[in-house]
Amino acid sequence: MYNIRSSGSVQFILLRDGTGLVQAVASRQALSPESFALAKRLTQEASLRLRGRVREDARSPGGVELEVSDLELVGPSQDYPITLKEHGTAFLMEHRHLWLRSLRQTAILRVRATIVKAMRDYMDGQGFTLVDAPILTPAAVEGTTTLFPVEYFNETAYLSQSGQLYNEATCMALERVYCFGPAFRAEKSNTRRHLTELWMMEPEAAFFTYEDNLRLQEGLICSIVEQVLTHRSRELEALQRNSDALRKVMAPFPRITYDDALQLLAEGGLELPWGEDLGAPQEAFLSCRYEKPVFLTHFPVACKAFYMKPDPLRPEVTLSADLLAPEGYGEIIGGSERIDSLELLEERIRQHNLPMELYRWYLDLRRFGSVPHAGFGIGVERTVAWICGLEHIRESIPFPRMLEKMYP
Ligand code: 4AD
Ligand code: MG
Repeated sequence: MYNIRSSGSVQFILLRDGTGLVQAVASRQALSPESFALAKRLTQEASLRLRGRVREDARSPGGVELEVSDLELVGPSQDYPITLKEHGTAFLMEHRHLWLRSLRQTAILRVRATIVKAMRDYMDGQGFTLVDAPILTPAAVEGTTTLFPVEYFNETAYLSQSGQLYNEATCMALERVYCFGPAFRAEKSNTRRHLTELWMMEPEAAFFTYEDNLRLQEGLICSIVEQVLTHRSRELEALQRNSDALRKVMAPFPRITYDDALQLLAEGGLELPWGEDLGAPQEAFLSCRYEKPVFLTHFPVACKAFYMKPDPLRPEVTLSADLLAPEGYGEIIGGSERIDSLELLEERIRQHNLPMELYRWYLDLRRFGSVPHAGFGIGVERTVAWICGLEHIRESIPFPRMLEKMYP
């Protein structure tokens, strides 16, 4: 029971099920006295089973109405905390397990499911094989500051930050692979776009160049947007998402180098010293300039991960790109071509003070038939936030995990 309106001898019951809302009309004439009494007593979120006749009614939300002939209470509900008026975010987060029943949250969950399916369908269609990566790992991929340690018998394991290193192993076996799973980052700041537990889809392909990598991203993003527009227009409407903005997402996407980005930022009063990574305000500034997603390319070696291949023409920058979603959303994808030389990779591991011993297996990939390869990771939640037009990433995942927030 989503909502109820009474007019004496008739109860208008708004019912919710897995497909949406429908209005049921329970009248004194059509029901037994017990059933009608029950209909009058119904409270928000009580669950019921009912029988009736479906009648076409153009004025009703779904175009039909239900004339109730019988109803039965399945589970009562007293003092449901989330009423149909406005509530504060802290209160809603505390009741996330119930908040998920709202029309807005169910719309987001449906779009999320469609996005995940679109990602997988696209990769499968491009000849990529799904290969799962481990969650318990011995070493860092994306820097040691955001690792979550876990006691692992007499050792320390870390929750995976990314499946990439394992993808690099499996792509040497299967050529084109992707992993899909959760990733963990002990992000110590509270922002609108950081979770500590997120889901990522990460493709990796042998013989892929930097350029191939960008083309694959364009194809993937266009396909995701198209699938959502085709299958989830009702949900986008419920979320009041401007879908014209999404219709503009067509390949090719504009590209700007890191150097040009610094120039634009300086003109906009957001100066950044060369070599430093962009923060949220810089990304938002750049991403607002375009109607399509934009690639930010050739980041300095100094501000990127140890495995990124330097540009042979300019070794102080990497063959990397971040994809920024438009409308101020910022980074949704990070990717690069990978270092394929054993010597350079060893040097980088040393420079980053990473424990060489733990990367022995990863170095083996460069010892035995190393080939150029590239890949990327797309964050599911940031993609959902952008496509649904959400203000905060917390609504993009059923049970968000954030700095010091684990309940429910
Ligand atoms: O840019 P990132 O850190 O790249 C990697 O992890 C690579 N190893 C991926 C690869 O090349 N296989 O993360 C990839 C994406 C980001 O662009 C972002 O969308 C998402 O993962 N992401 C987060 N989303 C929410 N909260 C966080 N704390 C996130 N950290 C990364
Ligand atoms: Mg990144």
